[in-house]
Amino acid sequence: MDDAAPVLSTADLTRHFGMVKAVDGITVEIARGALVGIVGANGSGKTTFLNLITGYLTPDRGRIEFMGRETTGLPPRAVTKLGIARSFQVPQLYTGLSVPPRVAEGLQILERFGLGSYADRPVGQLAEGGRKLLDIALSFALRPRLLLMDEPTSGVSIDDKGPVMDTLVGVLRQSDVTTIFVEHDMDVVQRYARRVLVFDNGRVIAQGETGRVLADAEVRKAILGHA
Ligand SMILES: Nc1ncnc2c1ncn2[C@@H]1O[C@H](COP(=O)(O)OP(=O)(O)O)[C@@H](O)[C@H]1O
Ligand SMILES: [Mg+2]
Repeated sequence: MDDAAPVLSTADLTRHFGMVKAVDGITVEIARGALVGIVGANGSGKTTFLNLITGYLTPDRGRIEFMGRETTGLPPRAVTKLGIARSFQVPQLYTGLSVPPRVAEGLQILERFGLGSYADRPVGQLAEGGRKLLDIALSFALRPRLLLMDEPTSGVSIDDKGPVMDTLVGVLRQSDVTTIFVEHDMDVVQRYARRVLVFDNGRVIAQGETGRVLADAEVRKAILGHA
């Protein structure tokens, strides 16, 4: 694949729920190797966008291309097979099981995520930061080319946010995985995302280099939400 070609692109991607324009004509390109943050008020369409990319929802209109191939309308399993992984805002883990059977490549992946010492402990003993990392480690067993994370630090204690993100970003840098993450904590976005997409009422109202975009007064207003 051409290095300059985007890993992911959407054109006029649209999904409405009745009168609610959850995702409303989004056209974006995500460059290979990028670490992109999605920010926006509650209800601005961030999770719906991820659900469309991963096939959990089908669009009303528009097109999705992943690594040069159209994926619009494919079911989640087909999308996963092509190399798109996702983690959820609330980790989808069975908390009673021990950690290793949950990860196909076992210890190796656990260790990359700093979870090696938890290998024979129940998932329930992990703090929220560890659960988030484990959820993402699971998706890494599938060797994704694109990783989508919905609020990787939500529910994680303030002290753990830095270590969780440092671990994640460290693994990502070594693995040529393009990453898009939805994030509410602007400190985390500022520190870890080189580029951001700003969602507002289902549309992308600004995008670009993080510091520049987040300095904009209209953007800040949109992120706080319209009363
Ligand atoms: N399955 C659904 N059915 C009806 N409305 C939905 C559904 N999913 C999302 N919405 C609505 O779409 C809008 C965008 O939601 P969402 O994508 O979850 O926003 P965000 O993740 O930015 O908080 C909201 O108004 C939400 O209530
Ligand atoms: Mg959401």
